Amino acid sequence: MTNSPLTILLCGPRGFCAGVDRAIQIVVLALKRYGAPVYVRHEIVHNRYVVEGLEAKGAIFVEELDEIPVEHRQQPVVFSAHGVPKSVPADAETRNLFYLDATCPLVSKVHKQAMRHERLGRHVVLIGHAGHPEVIGTMGQLPEGAVSLIETVEDAERYEPADPDNLGFVTQTTLSVQDTAAVIAKLQERFPNLTAPSADSICYATTNRQEAVSAAAPGCDLFIIVGAPNSSNSRRLVEVAKRAGAKDAILVQRAAELDFDAIGEIRTLGLSAGASAPEVVVNEIIEAFRARFDATVELAETAIENEHFLVNRQLRDVELTVD
Ligand code: F3S
Repeated sequence: MTNSPLTILLCGPRGFCAGVDRAIQIVVLALKRYGAPVYVRHEIVHNRYVVEGLEAKGAIFVEELDEIPVEHRQQPVVFSAHGVPKSVPADAETRNLFYLDATCPLVSKVHKQAMRHERLGRHVVLIGHAGHPEVIGTMGQLPEGAVSLIETVEDAERYEPADPDNLGFVTQTTLSVQDTAAVIAKLQERFPNLTAPSADSICYATTNRQEAVSAAAPGCDLFIIVGAPNSSNSRRLVEVAKRAGAKDAILVQRAAELDFDAIGEIRTLGLSAGASAPEVVVNEIIEAFRARFDATVELAETAIENEHFLVNRQLRDVELTVD
């Protein structure tokens, strides 16, 4: 227990983005409209706290549609915010399942950009992380072999396309802005006719959270990013904090994980949260520091967000109440 002064630089914007907010609302509203259980394919967003909260309300999380019992096929199944390959809604239709798609509209936009490249005869280069559900979903918009995945500058150096003059790229929405710029620069250097998407694929929320962390990081003894280890955008924020000058940066899911012996005597703490991390956990972290330090919270805000995405048409008239 220490009462040393501590300044907490609380980044803004932080936490839930409009796509995550919408996906959670879709599950909550579906539970209200159709009753439990509501199936959700894959974690609706990468956050255990959110997933467990929805499970408590009657959501059942599955990895694949064949896990939904035949007797529950009238109940809705929600597809996660990360998006799904085209084969998933097709499979749902074959099984006569009723599905609600919670794919973030900004991910759907990337799908459309990839399809547009293909329609115009371009081979699609997707910059992203192998195995991430969003990458699986984007690759699955096009026939096998129509998309090449590039993860790093080294991949871009080695890439040997069949037709180097007919390439179009898109990116995962949650990448590091800086790393992605380096990959794109390398691809453009090697393939001058590479076509960019009509608008940036990295989304506003990713960009804003990275900018806020980058601005607050210099001079921080420690930077805490609230988020899950499988959350791409949260992990990128840890990298951004370190690169921008924080002495150390860690990813934390809950306040109970904080090791105050290891943290020691710090004077300035940076704090932000990934796009899938709820504000309640941010507050929990602040309280944990307040219990040990004479902490002052300063808002380090670099942008104001007003984005809001409408839920699916079938759910727009269901009243959202907080319980
Ligand atoms: Fe959508 Fe960006 Fe959030 S793509 S889900 S608004 S992180």
